[in-house]
Amino acid sequence: MPEWYAACGSGELDAGRAILREVGGLKLALLREGDSIVALSDRCPHAGGSLGRGWVEEGELVCPLHRWRFRLADGRCTTMRGQSVHRFRAERRGEEVWVLV
Ligand code: FES
Repeated sequence: MPEWYAACGSGELDAGRAILREVGGLKLALLREGDSIVALSDRCPHAGGSLGRGWVEEGELVCPLHRWRFRLADGRCTTMRGQSVHRFRAERRGEEVWVLV
């Protein structure tokens, strides 16, 4: 059963770069997109790169190892079909960011 966890302070999130956090036993890449919070699985399906160390280009999170790209909107990989990452529900609650994992 998924549960909500406090993941980080809302002021820690950037629009251009992800941060890496362990939340409920899972590693997640967290970032801000406009008013939305984006929480994607950290592990890149290509070779295990950390998306939490990636950056944003044109609405996609770029893996720092070999630059596969994942849509912020839904985690879909636009570099290699069928290699998407999970996007988790996330929301701001006051000064904190909470994620459903
Ligand atoms: S490990 Fe992410 S693109 Fe290769």
